[in-house]
Amino acid sequence: MAVIIDGKAAARKIHEDAKRRTAVLLEKGIKPCLAVILLGKDPASVSYVSAKEKALAQAGMDGRDLRLPASTSEAELLALIASLNRDSLVHGILVQLPLPRRIREERVITAIDPAKDVDGFHPVSLGRLVLGQAGFIPCTPHGITALLRELPVPLDGAHAVVLGRSNIVGKPLAILLSRRDINATVTICHTGTKDLAAITRQADILIAAAGKPALVDAGMIKAGAVVIDVGVNRVDDPSAKKGYRLRGDVDFKAVAEKAAYITPVPGGVGPMTIAMLIRNVVEAAERAG
Ligand code: GUN
Repeated sequence: MAVIIDGKAAARKIHEDAKRRTAVLLEKGIKPCLAVILLGKDPASVSYVSAKEKALAQAGMDGRDLRLPASTSEAELLALIASLNRDSLVHGILVQLPLPRRIREERVITAIDPAKDVDGFHPVSLGRLVLGQAGFIPCTPHGITALLRELPVPLDGAHAVVLGRSNIVGKPLAILLSRRDINATVTICHTGTKDLAAITRQADILIAAAGKPALVDAGMIKAGAVVIDVGVNRVDDPSAKKGYRLRGDVDFKAVAEKAAYITPVPGGVGPMTIAMLIRNVVEAAERAG
């Protein structure tokens, strides 16, 4: 039976560090502030944004809650971002994704000042990541590498298989894992990968970020592997209070029998994503101050 990785406990330590750093800034008269923009009322996005704002308050930071109607135009959104870029009281800007389809996500992300890009999605941030330069690292991949570093498992030379190639998780994670400070050998798999199981079975570390509930079964992993589940799929469940339940990309029960370490959903990667966001906000405020 695998050891279940406690993402909440690991996240707590990062929150404590951010709170301590925030207190130092507060003494200097600087209150770290994140502007959070949400268009519309997608239930998953609303719940993520609320969790982020709660974490900001707990760390002693300011959250500027900017909830706009789904009908907001791209021009209005760009104008809002431009004003937040100029606002010296705002250290970070987060636009919750996905955006309504008619808004060009790329234009919106590119409009954010890279100095305030605490999500790490701006082309400048991602370019710096690829080049190994200092900059904001996207929160979910950063949280995953922080969890991996805490395990008593060698990462240097390990074969890490990343399932998924999104701009938010798969791509930046593959870059981070292959950097010299981690030094893993990385394979990226995606929907076009032939004989997926033959590749995932070679993984010492398997990261499932494909967005498909229970895609990874026990037959797809090597015995003793580390399995990181990034999936947050809402599946209908009439017996649950909310009418749905969260399911990862991994068939947890079956895979936990075979893996050495596994992250649960919820309580694994999710808390680390928020912790890394809080860390990025305090870092943005430190750099600005
Ligand atoms: N949507 C899903 N994950 C994220 C995230 O990490 N940041 C933002 N801004 N939107 C998201």
